[in-house]
Amino acid sequence: MRVVLVLIFFYSVISSISPTYGFDPLDPHANITIKWDLMQSTPDASDVRVSLFNYQLYRHIDQPGWRMSWDWTGDEVIWNMWGAETTEQGNCTKFRGTQLPYCCEKSPVIIDLMPGAPYNLQTANCCKGGTWNVTCAYSQFLASSNPTCCVSLSAFYNNTIVPCPKCSCNCQELSHTKCPVKVICSQHMCPIRVHWHVKQSYKEYWRVKMTVTNLNVMKNYSNWNLVVLHPNLESLAQAFSFNYRALDQYGYINDTGMLWGIRDYNDVLLQAGDKGNVQTEMILHKDPGTFTFREGWAFPRRILFNGDECVMPLPDDYPRLPNSGHSALASSFTFLLSLLVLTTIL
Ligand SMILES: *[C@@H]1O[C@H](CO)[C@@H](O)[C@H](O)[C@H]1NC(C)=O
Ligand SMILES: *[C@@H]1O[C@H](CO)[C@@H](O)[C@H](O)[C@H]1NC(C)=O
Ligand SMILES: *[C@@H]1O[C@H](CO)[C@@H](O)[C@H](O)[C@H]1NC(C)=O
Ligand SMILES: *[C@@H]1O[C@H](CO)[C@@H](O)[C@H](O)[C@H]1NC(C)=O
Ligand SMILES: *[C@@H]1O[C@H](CO)[C@@H](O)[C@H](O)[C@H]1NC(C)=O
Ligand SMILES: *[C@@H]1O[C@H](CO)[C@@H](O)[C@H](O)[C@H]1NC(C)=O
Repeated sequence: MRVVLVLIFFYSVISSISPTYGFDPLDPHANITIKWDLMQSTPDASDVRVSLFNYQLYRHIDQPGWRMSWDWTGDEVIWNMWGAETTEQGNCTKFRGTQLPYCCEKSPVIIDLMPGAPYNLQTANCCKGGTWNVTCAYSQFLASSNPTCCVSLSAFYNNTIVPCPKCSCNCQELSHTKCPVKVICSQHMCPIRVHWHVKQSYKEYWRVKMTVTNLNVMKNYSNWNLVVLHPNLESLAQAFSFNYRALDQYGYINDTGMLWGIRDYNDVLLQAGDKGNVQTEMILHKDPGTFTFREGWAFPRRILFNGDECVMPLPDDYPRLPNSGHSALASSFTFLLSLLVLTTIL
Protein backbone atom coordinates (compact mmCIF):
# COMPACT_ATOMS: atom_id res chain seq x y z
CA MET A 1 0.00 0.00 0.00
CA ARG A 2 1.45 3.29 -1.07
CA VAL A 3 0.30 6.29 0.85
CA VAL A 4 0.24 9.61 -0.92
CA LEU A 5 -0.01 13.10 0.41
CA VAL A 6 -1.32 15.50 -2.19
CA LEU A 7 -1.03 19.26 -2.35
CA ILE A 8 -2.97 21.10 -5.00
CA PHE A 9 -2.31 24.56 -6.36
CA PHE A 10 -4.21 26.53 -8.92
CA TYR A 11 -2.60 29.35 -10.86
CA SER A 12 -4.29 31.76 -13.16
CA VAL A 13 -1.62 33.04 -15.47
CA ILE A 14 -2.00 35.66 -18.13
CA SER A 15 0.77 35.08 -20.57
CA SER A 16 1.64 35.52 -24.16
CA ILE A 17 4.78 33.65 -25.03
CA SER A 18 6.19 31.00 -27.38
CA PRO A 19 4.62 30.76 -30.82
CA THR A 20 3.25 27.19 -30.87
CA TYR A 21 0.36 26.16 -33.04
CA GLY A 22 -2.88 26.32 -31.07
CA PHE A 23 -6.49 25.33 -31.11
CA ASP A 24 -8.09 28.77 -30.75
CA PRO A 25 -6.81 31.24 -33.36
CA LEU A 26 -7.69 34.14 -31.03
CA ASP A 27 -5.57 32.65 -28.25
CA PRO A 28 -3.18 30.40 -30.11
CA HIS A 29 -1.04 29.37 -27.12
CA ALA A 30 -3.99 28.67 -24.83
CA ASN A 31 -3.71 25.60 -22.64
CA ILE A 32 -4.19 24.32 -19.15
CA THR A 33 -1.09 22.60 -17.84
CA ILE A 34 -1.20 20.18 -14.96
CA LYS A 35 2.15 19.56 -13.35
CA TRP A 36 2.82 16.60 -11.09
CA ASP A 37 5.75 17.04 -8.72
CA LEU A 38 7.04 14.16 -6.68
CA MET A 39 8.50 15.97 -3.71
CA GLN A 40 9.52 13.03 -1.57
CA SER A 41 9.27 9.32 -2.08
CA THR A 42 9.90 6.19 -0.03
CA PRO A 43 8.73 2.68 -0.97
CA ASP A 44 5.50 3.15 0.94
CA ALA A 45 4.82 6.88 0.96
CA SER A 46 5.13 9.87 -1.32
CA ASP A 47 4.47 13.56 -1.15
CA VAL A 48 3.07 14.94 -4.34
CA ARG A 49 2.42 18.47 -5.39
CA VAL A 50 -0.04 18.99 -8.23
CA SER A 51 -0.18 22.40 -9.88
CA LEU A 52 -2.76 23.59 -12.38
CA PHE A 53 -1.82 26.49 -14.62
CA ASN A 54 -4.50 28.29 -16.58
CA TYR A 55 -2.61 29.65 -19.59
CA GLN A 56 -5.67 31.04 -21.34
CA LEU A 57 -6.07 34.69 -22.14
CA TYR A 58 -9.82 34.94 -21.70
CA ARG A 59 -11.19 31.74 -20.24
CA HIS A 60 -11.33 31.77 -16.51
CA ILE A 61 -12.57 28.92 -14.37
CA ASP A 62 -16.00 30.00 -13.25
CA GLN A 63 -17.87 28.96 -10.10
CA PRO A 64 -18.10 26.28 -8.77
CA GLY A 65 -14.48 25.93 -9.87
CA TRP A 66 -12.40 23.29 -11.58
CA ARG A 67 -12.67 19.53 -11.38
CA MET A 68 -9.98 16.99 -12.19
CA SER A 69 -9.39 13.27 -11.90
CA TRP A 70 -6.63 10.74 -12.35
CA ASP A 71 -6.30 6.95 -12.17
CA TRP A 72 -3.90 5.28 -9.79
CA THR A 73 -2.00 2.47 -11.49
CA GLY A 74 -1.45 0.54 -8.25
CA ASP A 75 -3.20 0.40 -4.91
CA GLU A 76 -2.33 3.94 -3.83
CA VAL A 77 -4.56 5.83 -1.44
CA ILE A 78 -4.53 9.51 -0.58
CA TRP A 79 -3.69 9.91 3.08
CA ASN A 80 -4.15 13.62 3.19
CA MET A 81 -4.82 16.53 0.84
CA TRP A 82 -4.47 20.29 1.00
CA GLY A 83 -5.70 23.03 -1.29
CA ALA A 84 -8.54 20.97 -2.77
CA GLU A 85 -10.83 18.11 -1.85
CA THR A 86 -12.11 14.85 -3.27
CA THR A 87 -15.81 14.29 -3.89
CA GLU A 88 -15.85 10.79 -2.31
CA GLN A 89 -13.82 8.98 0.27
CA GLY A 90 -14.34 5.63 -1.41
CA ASN A 91 -13.95 2.20 0.17
CA CYS A 92 -11.39 2.37 2.97
CA THR A 93 -12.55 -0.78 4.82
CA LYS A 94 -9.12 -2.36 4.33
CA PHE A 95 -7.78 0.04 6.90
CA ARG A 96 -8.22 -0.42 10.59
CA GLY A 97 -7.45 1.99 13.35
CA THR A 98 -8.78 5.33 14.31
CA GLN A 99 -7.40 7.26 11.37
CA LEU A 100 -8.54 6.31 7.88
CA PRO A 101 -7.03 7.55 4.64
CA TYR A 102 -8.53 10.65 3.12
CA CYS A 103 -9.52 8.94 -0.12
CA CYS A 104 -9.32 5.33 -1.32
CA GLU A 105 -10.88 5.76 -4.75
CA LYS A 106 -9.12 4.21 -7.71
CA SER A 107 -10.01 7.32 -9.74
CA PRO A 108 -10.38 10.14 -7.23
CA VAL A 109 -12.34 13.17 -8.40
CA ILE A 110 -10.73 16.33 -7.07
CA ILE A 111 -12.57 19.63 -6.90
CA ASP A 112 -11.76 23.16 -5.90
CA LEU A 113 -12.46 24.14 -2.31
CA MET A 114 -15.70 25.94 -1.69
CA PRO A 115 -15.39 29.67 -1.07
CA GLY A 116 -14.71 30.32 2.59
CA ALA A 117 -13.04 26.97 3.22
CA PRO A 118 -9.72 27.26 5.02
CA TYR A 119 -7.18 27.45 2.24
CA ASN A 120 -4.08 25.71 3.40
CA LEU A 121 -1.18 27.00 1.38
CA GLN A 122 1.87 25.51 3.03
CA THR A 123 5.20 24.37 1.55
CA ALA A 124 7.16 27.20 0.17
CA ASN A 125 10.05 24.91 -0.68
CA CYS A 126 9.01 23.16 -3.81
CA CYS A 127 9.59 21.82 -6.57
CA LYS A 128 11.84 19.29 -8.18
CA GLY A 129 11.01 20.46 -11.68
CA GLY A 130 8.01 18.33 -12.47
CA THR A 131 8.09 14.54 -13.20
CA TRP A 132 5.33 14.87 -15.82
CA ASN A 133 2.97 17.51 -17.34
CA VAL A 134 -0.44 17.17 -18.90
CA THR A 135 -1.62 19.87 -21.28
CA CYS A 136 -5.23 20.34 -22.26
CA ALA A 137 -6.98 22.69 -24.67
CA TYR A 138 -10.47 24.05 -24.20
CA SER A 139 -13.27 22.83 -26.42
CA GLN A 140 -16.48 24.82 -26.46
CA PHE A 141 -18.31 21.83 -27.87
CA LEU A 142 -17.28 19.64 -24.96
CA ALA A 143 -18.01 22.35 -22.41
CA SER A 144 -21.55 22.90 -23.65
CA SER A 145 -23.21 21.67 -26.80
CA ASN A 146 -25.49 24.72 -27.00
CA PRO A 147 -24.29 28.27 -27.48
CA THR A 148 -24.76 30.45 -24.41
CA CYS A 149 -24.72 33.87 -25.98
CA CYS A 150 -26.07 35.79 -28.96
CA VAL A 151 -25.69 39.17 -30.64
CA SER A 152 -28.30 41.72 -31.69
CA LEU A 153 -27.55 44.77 -33.86
CA SER A 154 -28.73 48.28 -34.57
CA ALA A 155 -27.41 51.50 -36.11
CA PHE A 156 -28.28 55.20 -35.97
CA TYR A 157 -28.90 55.22 -39.74
CA ASN A 158 -31.65 52.61 -39.67
CA ASN A 159 -34.42 52.13 -37.11
CA THR A 160 -34.59 48.36 -37.50
CA ILE A 161 -33.24 46.48 -34.48
CA VAL A 162 -31.94 43.14 -35.70
CA PRO A 163 -32.61 40.66 -32.91
CA CYS A 164 -30.62 37.58 -32.00
CA PRO A 165 -31.39 34.76 -34.44
CA LYS A 166 -34.31 32.62 -33.40
CA CYS A 167 -33.31 29.55 -31.35
CA SER A 168 -29.69 30.79 -31.07
CA CYS A 169 -29.22 28.87 -27.83
CA ASN A 170 -32.38 26.82 -27.61
CA CYS A 171 -35.95 26.73 -28.86
CA GLN A 172 -38.89 27.42 -26.62
CA GLU A 173 -40.97 24.66 -28.23
CA LEU A 174 -38.39 21.97 -27.53
CA SER A 175 -38.50 22.25 -23.78
CA HIS A 176 -41.06 20.23 -21.85
CA THR A 177 -42.39 23.14 -19.91
CA LYS A 178 -43.03 26.18 -22.04
CA CYS A 179 -39.89 27.82 -20.75
CA PRO A 180 -36.98 26.45 -18.75
CA VAL A 181 -36.68 28.00 -15.32
CA LYS A 182 -33.09 29.16 -15.70
CA VAL A 183 -33.34 31.59 -18.59
CA ILE A 184 -35.83 34.36 -19.24
CA CYS A 185 -38.10 33.42 -22.11
CA SER A 186 -37.10 34.87 -25.46
CA GLN A 187 -37.07 33.73 -29.05
CA HIS A 188 -33.31 33.07 -28.76
CA MET A 189 -33.27 31.53 -25.24
CA CYS A 190 -29.72 32.67 -24.54
CA PRO A 191 -28.57 33.46 -21.01
CA ILE A 192 -26.40 36.29 -22.40
CA ARG A 193 -27.22 38.83 -25.10
CA VAL A 194 -24.71 41.31 -26.46
CA HIS A 195 -26.16 44.29 -28.29
CA TRP A 196 -23.95 46.24 -30.71
CA HIS A 197 -25.26 49.68 -31.61
CA VAL A 198 -23.52 51.88 -34.15
CA LYS A 199 -24.35 55.05 -32.29
CA GLN A 200 -22.83 58.04 -33.95
CA SER A 201 -20.67 59.28 -36.76
CA TYR A 202 -18.24 62.15 -36.36
CA LYS A 203 -15.95 63.67 -38.92
CA GLU A 204 -12.98 61.45 -38.20
CA TYR A 205 -14.36 59.03 -35.65
CA TRP A 206 -17.39 56.87 -35.01
CA ARG A 207 -18.93 55.59 -31.82
CA VAL A 208 -20.30 52.20 -30.94
CA LYS A 209 -22.24 51.22 -27.83
CA MET A 210 -22.18 47.69 -26.51
CA THR A 211 -24.61 46.37 -23.94
CA VAL A 212 -24.31 42.95 -22.33
CA THR A 213 -27.50 41.68 -20.72
CA ASN A 214 -27.74 38.76 -18.32
CA LEU A 215 -30.95 36.81 -18.94
CA ASN A 216 -29.94 33.95 -16.69
CA VAL A 217 -32.08 34.24 -13.58
CA MET A 218 -29.88 31.77 -11.69
CA LYS A 219 -26.51 33.35 -12.14
CA ASN A 220 -24.41 36.44 -11.51
CA TYR A 221 -21.33 36.39 -13.73
CA SER A 222 -18.29 37.55 -11.82
CA ASN A 223 -15.11 38.46 -13.70
CA TRP A 224 -16.92 38.26 -16.99
CA ASN A 225 -15.08 39.14 -20.19
CA LEU A 226 -15.85 39.85 -23.81
CA VAL A 227 -13.66 39.20 -26.80
CA VAL A 228 -14.50 41.29 -29.85
CA LEU A 229 -13.18 40.95 -33.35
CA HIS A 230 -13.52 43.98 -35.61
CA PRO A 231 -10.97 45.30 -38.13
CA ASN A 232 -11.31 48.85 -36.78
CA LEU A 233 -10.11 47.89 -33.28
CA GLU A 234 -6.58 48.56 -34.47
CA SER A 235 -7.56 52.23 -34.39
CA LEU A 236 -9.50 52.21 -31.16
CA ALA A 237 -9.24 55.67 -29.65
CA GLN A 238 -11.10 55.07 -26.38
CA ALA A 239 -13.20 52.49 -24.55
CA PHE A 240 -15.37 53.78 -21.71
CA SER A 241 -16.40 52.01 -18.47
CA PHE A 242 -14.55 48.78 -19.28
CA ASN A 243 -10.95 47.69 -19.31
CA TYR A 244 -9.50 46.98 -22.73
CA ARG A 245 -6.56 44.91 -23.85
CA ALA A 246 -5.58 44.23 -27.46
CA LEU A 247 -5.16 40.53 -28.19
CA ASP A 248 -2.54 41.08 -30.83
CA GLN A 249 -1.23 37.54 -30.60
CA TYR A 250 0.31 37.60 -34.05
CA GLY A 251 2.01 40.97 -33.82
CA TYR A 252 1.00 42.13 -37.28
CA ILE A 253 -2.79 42.09 -36.92
CA ASN A 254 -4.66 44.02 -34.26
CA ASP A 255 -8.34 43.39 -34.87
CA THR A 256 -9.18 41.61 -31.63
CA GLY A 257 -9.59 42.94 -28.13
CA MET A 258 -10.69 41.77 -24.73
CA LEU A 259 -13.00 43.86 -22.57
CA TRP A 260 -13.72 43.27 -18.92
CA GLY A 261 -15.30 45.07 -16.00
CA ILE A 262 -13.74 47.53 -13.61
CA ARG A 263 -13.25 46.04 -10.20
CA ASP A 264 -16.01 46.80 -7.65
CA TYR A 265 -17.89 48.78 -10.30
CA ASN A 266 -19.08 46.49 -13.09
CA ASP A 267 -16.97 43.33 -12.85
CA VAL A 268 -20.06 41.43 -11.74
CA LEU A 269 -22.83 41.07 -14.30
CA LEU A 270 -25.90 40.76 -12.12
CA GLN A 271 -28.73 38.52 -13.10
CA ALA A 272 -31.73 39.64 -15.12
CA GLY A 273 -33.43 42.74 -13.82
CA ASP A 274 -32.93 46.49 -13.87
CA LYS A 275 -29.23 46.16 -13.13
CA GLY A 276 -28.75 43.06 -15.22
CA ASN A 277 -26.56 44.69 -17.83
CA VAL A 278 -23.20 46.35 -18.33
CA GLN A 279 -22.39 48.87 -21.04
CA THR A 280 -19.48 50.42 -22.82
CA GLU A 281 -18.99 52.92 -25.60
CA MET A 282 -16.01 52.86 -27.87
CA ILE A 283 -14.63 55.53 -30.15
CA LEU A 284 -12.86 54.34 -33.26
CA HIS A 285 -10.93 56.24 -35.86
CA LYS A 286 -12.25 56.22 -39.42
CA ASP A 287 -9.18 54.94 -41.20
CA PRO A 288 -9.22 56.24 -44.76
CA GLY A 289 -9.47 53.47 -47.29
CA THR A 290 -10.93 50.88 -44.93
CA PHE A 291 -13.66 52.52 -42.89
CA THR A 292 -17.24 52.42 -44.23
CA PHE A 293 -20.79 52.17 -42.92
CA ARG A 294 -21.68 50.17 -46.02
CA GLU A 295 -22.16 46.42 -46.24
CA GLY A 296 -22.33 45.92 -42.50
CA TRP A 297 -18.63 46.70 -42.10
CA ALA A 298 -19.34 48.57 -38.84
CA PHE A 299 -20.65 45.41 -37.18
CA PRO A 300 -18.45 42.95 -35.29
CA ARG A 301 -17.04 39.87 -36.99
CA ARG A 302 -17.11 37.77 -33.84
CA ILE A 303 -18.01 38.24 -30.18
CA LEU A 304 -17.22 35.83 -27.37
CA PHE A 305 -18.57 36.05 -23.85
CA ASN A 306 -16.42 34.30 -21.23
CA GLY A 307 -14.73 32.50 -24.10
CA ASP A 308 -17.92 31.16 -25.65
CA GLU A 309 -18.81 32.17 -29.17
CA CYS A 310 -21.95 34.33 -29.46
CA VAL A 311 -24.37 33.57 -32.28
CA MET A 312 -24.51 36.43 -34.79
CA PRO A 313 -27.40 37.43 -37.06
CA LEU A 314 -26.93 36.55 -40.72
CA PRO A 315 -25.12 39.28 -42.70
CA ASP A 316 -28.13 39.60 -45.01
CA ASP A 317 -30.20 40.77 -42.04
CA TYR A 318 -27.82 43.49 -40.81
CA PRO A 319 -29.28 47.00 -40.59
CA ARG A 320 -28.70 48.52 -44.00
CA LEU A 321 -27.73 52.04 -44.92
CA PRO A 322 -30.69 53.76 -46.51
CA ASN A 323 -29.83 53.61 -50.16
CA SER A 324 -30.41 57.34 -50.41
CA GLY A 325 -28.33 58.22 -53.51
CA HIS A 326 -29.82 55.48 -55.64
CA SER A 327 -33.44 55.80 -54.50
CA ALA A 328 -33.41 59.62 -54.77
CA LEU A 329 -32.17 59.31 -58.31
CA ALA A 330 -34.73 56.65 -59.08
CA SER A 331 -37.63 58.66 -57.73
CA SER A 332 -36.63 61.81 -59.60
CA PHE A 333 -36.36 59.69 -62.72
CA THR A 334 -39.88 58.35 -62.08
CA PHE A 335 -41.06 61.89 -61.47
CA LEU A 336 -39.55 63.06 -64.75
CA LEU A 337 -41.04 60.07 -66.53
CA SER A 338 -44.52 60.74 -65.18
CA LEU A 339 -44.14 64.40 -66.06
CA LEU A 340 -43.20 63.32 -69.54
CA VAL A 341 -46.19 60.99 -69.75
CA LEU A 342 -48.41 63.71 -68.40
CA THR A 343 -47.10 66.20 -70.94
CA THR A 344 -47.61 63.69 -73.71
CA ILE A 345 -51.16 63.04 -72.62
CA LEU A 346 -51.86 66.72 -72.37
C1 LIG B 1 1.02 26.24 -22.64
O1 LIG B 1 1.03 27.65 -22.51
C2 LIG B 1 2.26 28.18 -22.03
C3 LIG B 1 2.08 29.66 -21.86
O2 LIG B 1 1.59 30.28 -23.03
C4 LIG B 1 3.37 27.84 -23.02
O3 LIG B 1 4.60 28.30 -22.50
C5 LIG B 1 3.44 26.34 -23.23
O4 LIG B 1 4.38 26.05 -24.22
C6 LIG B 1 2.09 25.81 -23.65
N1 LIG B 1 2.16 24.37 -23.75
C7 LIG B 1 1.73 23.72 -24.83
C8 LIG B 1 1.90 22.25 -24.82
O5 LIG B 1 1.21 24.29 -25.77
C1 LIG C 1 -14.82 -2.67 0.16
O1 LIG C 1 -13.66 -3.40 -0.11
C2 LIG C 1 -13.63 -4.68 0.49
C3 LIG C 1 -12.30 -5.32 0.16
O2 LIG C 1 -11.26 -4.48 0.50
C4 LIG C 1 -14.78 -5.53 -0.03
O3 LIG C 1 -14.81 -6.77 0.64
C5 LIG C 1 -16.10 -4.79 0.20
O4 LIG C 1 -17.16 -5.51 -0.40
C6 LIG C 1 -16.02 -3.39 -0.38
N1 LIG C 1 -17.26 -2.67 -0.05
C7 LIG C 1 -17.98 -2.02 -0.95
C8 LIG C 1 -19.20 -1.32 -0.44
O5 LIG C 1 -17.70 -2.02 -2.14
C1 LIG D 1 6.87 20.19 -18.29
O1 LIG D 1 6.80 21.59 -18.42
C2 LIG D 1 7.99 22.27 -18.07
C3 LIG D 1 7.71 23.75 -18.22
O2 LIG D 1 6.42 24.10 -17.88
C4 LIG D 1 9.10 21.82 -18.98
O3 LIG D 1 10.29 22.44 -18.60
C5 LIG D 1 9.26 20.31 -18.92
O4 LIG D 1 10.21 19.88 -19.86
C6 LIG D 1 7.92 19.61 -19.20
N1 LIG D 1 8.07 18.18 -19.03
C7 LIG D 1 7.57 17.32 -19.90
C8 LIG D 1 7.79 15.88 -19.56
O5 LIG D 1 6.96 17.64 -20.91
C1 LIG E 1 -26.81 38.09 -7.53
O1 LIG E 1 -26.45 39.29 -6.88
C2 LIG E 1 -27.54 39.99 -6.28
C3 LIG E 1 -27.03 41.32 -5.74
O2 LIG E 1 -25.83 41.14 -5.04
C4 LIG E 1 -28.16 39.12 -5.20
O3 LIG E 1 -29.29 39.78 -4.67
C5 LIG E 1 -28.59 37.78 -5.84
O4 LIG E 1 -29.10 36.92 -4.84
C6 LIG E 1 -27.42 37.12 -6.54
N1 LIG E 1 -27.92 35.93 -7.25
C7 LIG E 1 -27.29 34.78 -7.25
C8 LIG E 1 -27.95 33.66 -8.02
O5 LIG E 1 -26.24 34.60 -6.66
C1 LIG F 1 -2.85 47.23 -30.93
O1 LIG F 1 -3.63 48.24 -30.37
C2 LIG F 1 -3.25 48.65 -29.07
C3 LIG F 1 -4.19 49.76 -28.64
O2 LIG F 1 -5.51 49.45 -28.86
C4 LIG F 1 -1.84 49.15 -29.06
O3 LIG F 1 -1.48 49.44 -27.72
C5 LIG F 1 -0.95 48.10 -29.61
O4 LIG F 1 0.37 48.59 -29.72
C6 LIG F 1 -1.41 47.68 -31.00
N1 LIG F 1 -0.59 46.60 -31.49
C7 LIG F 1 -0.20 46.51 -32.75
C8 LIG F 1 0.59 45.30 -33.10
O5 LIG F 1 -0.47 47.36 -33.56
C1 LIG G 1 -32.89 48.89 -42.50
O1 LIG G 1 -32.27 47.60 -42.48
C2 LIG G 1 -33.18 46.56 -42.79
C3 LIG G 1 -32.45 45.25 -42.55
O2 LIG G 1 -31.36 45.10 -43.41
C4 LIG G 1 -33.68 46.73 -44.20
O3 LIG G 1 -34.62 45.71 -44.46
C5 LIG G 1 -34.36 48.09 -44.33
O4 LIG G 1 -34.70 48.32 -45.66
C6 LIG G 1 -33.41 49.20 -43.87
N1 LIG G 1 -34.13 50.47 -43.81
C7 LIG G 1 -33.86 51.48 -44.62
C8 LIG G 1 -34.67 52.71 -44.41
O5 LIG G 1 -33.00 51.40 -45.48
